[in-house]
Amino acid sequence: MQTIKTVAELRARLANEKSVAFVPTMGNLHEGHIELVRMARERGSCVVVSIFVNPIQFGPNEDFDKYPRTLEADCAKLQGLADVVFSPSVDEMYPEQQTLFVEPPPIATELCGAFRPGHFRGVATVVLKLFNLVQPQVAIFGKKDYQQLAIIRQMVIQFNLPVEIVGAETARATDGLALSSRNQYLSAQERTEAVFLSQTLISVKNALAAGEVGFAKLEQEAVAALAKTGWQVEYVAIRSQDGLCVPEPGERKLVVLVAARLGKTRLIDNLEVCL
Ligand code: PAJ
Repeated sequence: MQTIKTVAELRARLANEKSVAFVPTMGNLHEGHIELVRMARERGSCVVVSIFVNPIQFGPNEDFDKYPRTLEADCAKLQGLADVVFSPSVDEMYPEQQTLFVEPPPIATELCGAFRPGHFRGVATVVLKLFNLVQPQVAIFGKKDYQQLAIIRQMVIQFNLPVEIVGAETARATDGLALSSRNQYLSAQERTEAVFLSQTLISVKNALAAGEVGFAKLEQEAVAALAKTGWQVEYVAIRSQDGLCVPEPGERKLVVLVAARLGKTRLIDNLEVCL
């Protein structure tokens, strides 16, 4: 496995690779990321993982500075799984001020986008840059960040990018909490309470599976249940899997999405529901 920090070195290393499978990350890798890398291993002869905490997807009051940076431990986890780790500096990725951006679709201003203005613009822009650098045949993204995956899929279609996007299931701790680099911000007490987030999604899923069609009522009840146990809820939303729009009556492929804060930590999760 090679760790590469510059664009020039990366381009030289990948110049003759015909089948590159790519996993973009911000590092601090956990089993969810590693599962993506395993999927990449099955899909390409050369597996590239990028580790880059992307400043332009963080808002001014977000956790860019304190986001955990653990390159050495990450590389140890990738030994034997990845062929190339690309971990550029901010200056290497943005040698001049980024004044051109991918303007994401309207869905980027809803759900997480409503609470993180500019976030998906920053994500789409860095992912496009990374795709141009790595030029992968396939790229793997987690369903954990469902809205991100939906926006990347739209970007690839609408910009005719020659890359296949594969969505990976969410890896969870044994109690159901979705694995996330941000879980380590939780205190021990909060960590035990955090399970309620995925439990709430399961309750909504069960109600939908039982035939409940009052989506707004289900959303409000879930918000109230979370708030009662000390969460500051940003949203609970039932959307259609395709494009994340508000479902038409009779829509059978749904996804329940949630974002909420426990103490200072913002967590997101979602659950697909196929009726
Ligand atoms: P990061 O949060 O590091 O996540 C990297 C990839 O891992 C994303 O595709 C994310 O959906 C996936 N992932 C995270 N937790 C997961 C879990 N529990 N199960 C399965 N997959 C999981 O997402 C980003 O970085 C950035 O926005 C990025 C796309 C790299 C652009 O900067």
